This record gives sequence, structure tokens and C-alpha cells, in this order.
Amino acid sequence: MQNQLSKILEEAKERLASAVSVDDTEEIRVRMLGKKGQMTEVLRSMKDMAPEDRKTFGQEANQVRAQIESMLRDKMEEMRAKAQNMKFEAERIDVTEPGRKTALGSKHPITITIDEISKIFMSMGFSIAEGPEVETVFYNFDALNAGPNHPARDMTDTFYITEDTLLRTQTSPVQARTLEKTNPPIRVISPGRCFRCDTPDATHSPMFHQVEGLVVDEGITMADLKGVLDKFAKQMFGADARTKFRPHHFPFTEPSAEMDVSCFKCGGKGCKVCKGSGWIEILGCGMVHPSVLEVGDVDTEKYTGFAFGMGVERIAMLKYEIDDIRLLYENDMRFIGQFK
Ligand code: DAH
Repeated sequence: MQNQLSKILEEAKERLASAVSVDDTEEIRVRMLGKKGQMTEVLRSMKDMAPEDRKTFGQEANQVRAQIESMLRDKMEEMRAKAQNMKFEAERIDVTEPGRKTALGSKHPITITIDEISKIFMSMGFSIAEGPEVETVFYNFDALNAGPNHPARDMTDTFYITEDTLLRTQTSPVQARTLEKTNPPIRVISPGRCFRCDTPDATHSPMFHQVEGLVVDEGITMADLKGVLDKFAKQMFGADARTKFRPHHFPFTEPSAEMDVSCFKCGGKGCKVCKGSGWIEILGCGMVHPSVLEVGDVDTEKYTGFAFGMGVERIAMLKYEIDDIRLLYENDMRFIGQFK
């Protein structure tokens, strides 16, 4: 029997020596000291011994058991420490590693231009009005005095969604919507996207941006129109900028005009930017047609107004000397990142 005890002790030592983990150690504990373990079995067999043998054997067995327990404890501690170290090692962070830089974006030149235009008009007391990009035929054309035979209504010029809805071809429908919703005095601008069936080339895009403007109040005249737009031109293109108004036609204004700005590149002498003329066409404008005011039930005996509309791409392209409109929509960071 003593022999058996020393064999158990030997086996426990051998097994523990080759254990490499907490699990291995636990398995050895079960095998040696568990309910069905070797030690338990040996102790169970004591019941068949002579009482005097049982006593000494019992003492020895307890010693061996205590020895194995202590070895198991040491090994367990060692294995836990090892597991802990491995975990620390795996989770180690190199705090000296240089950080990764997040690429900072910049504003798109169209956004920069819209912001700049908006800031100028807001400083003159205008607020921002918004309208839907998917618009009704009524607001886009009829309410703006463009009757059923107006050429812009053609399928080849406009993206229709149904017979009565379309992608707005201009921001001017916001005029009609504002007149319906608000009573004069009105002073709003409305920047936004517009859509026309154009094949993309250096100066055309089926999607583009406009900024619309509308002022309605008592006693508004063409002098107010010219004053506001001349002030805008000087702030946008420089204090030396001069403006001139040429007669034009728009269905929703009467009289109508186009405004040119003296070339901010050559100052009016003539260059590539102004194509030698010294002037650059910037926007359309005019006194709001009474039939447009009537859409909003505005008393046309009491109130008058002026309106204007400008193409944002055109202004951005002139200002930044961009020679192809398509560059604005390709999202090439080498191009877009140049505008801050
Ligand atoms: N909606 C016109 C266009 O797309 C631009 C325009 C001209 C707007 C005159 C106006 C205006 O408000 O008064 O060509």
C-alpha cells in the first residue's frame, strides 16, 4: 500500500511537471484527488485493512495528499500568472506609436459660393426660403406666368416625373410658394438645385444650382433692384466692380433685365475670362409680374416687388477660373481639396 502512495505521489509530480495551463492543472487535481481520483480510491480500500495498519497508512496517505495539494496550489498559481501575462502581452498598446491623421474635408466650391452669396444678402436683411426639388408643373411654370405653350415646358427640356410633377428647372417656383405663404414685406433668397435635360459638356450639367431672390413691399421700384444688386456685385466681386442692366425677357418679371458685372479679372479692358467684352453676365432680374403677385393674393395696387436669379456654377467657375463644369461633380479630391 505504501508503494501505491509513493506511486501516486510520483505520478502527480510527473504530470504537474508537464502541465502547461490552468486547465491541465485542474485536470490533474480531478485525476489525483477528485471523487473518482486515485487518492480517493486508495483511501476507500483502507476499510479492508487491519485497524493498526489503517492508522499508519491513514497518516501517510494524509501527508501525501497534503503534499499533492500544495504542489497543485503552487502549479495553479504559476499557471494563472502565466495566463495573466499572456493576456497582458496580447493586449499591449504601444503608446509611443504615432497617431493616424483623419483627413479633414473642405467645403465644396459650390457650397462656398452659396455661403458667400447668402452672407451678402443676409447682411442686407434677407432670409433664406426653401422649396422642393420635386416640384409641380403649376409652381414651376403656370404660377410664374409661363403658359402651356412656353418652350421650357417641352419634354426635351424638362425632367417630368408625372404629367403634373417634375424636377424643378429653376428656383423661381420658391417665389410663388413664398408669396402664397407670407404676407409682404418679403425679403428672401432661395439657394438650391435645379434640373434640365442637358447633355453634360464643359458648360452644361443636367443638375446645377441657382440662388433666387424676391423682394415685395410697398413702393419697391427698379431703383431698389439696381441698388441691391449693385451692392451685391461689389461685395461679391470687389469694390471696383461696376454693373450694367440690359433689357431682357422673363415671363415672371416685367420689365426684365440681365445684369452684367465689369470683368473682375481685367477690370473691363477685355480678357479671356470676359471673352474680350469687359463685361460678364451674372444674373436675370426684373420687377415681379402682377400675375405672379396675384398667385399669392398680394394686392398689386399696394405692393410691388423685384426678383432675381443667378447660376451658382457660373459664378463659381468665373471666380475660381474653373474651365469645365464637370470638374465640380467628379469629386476628385485633388480638385475639390483646393477650395477652403
Ligand atoms: N429663373 C430664371 C432662369 O432660370 C432666372 C431668373 C431671371 C430668376 C429673372 C428671376 C428673375 O427671379 O427675376 O433663367
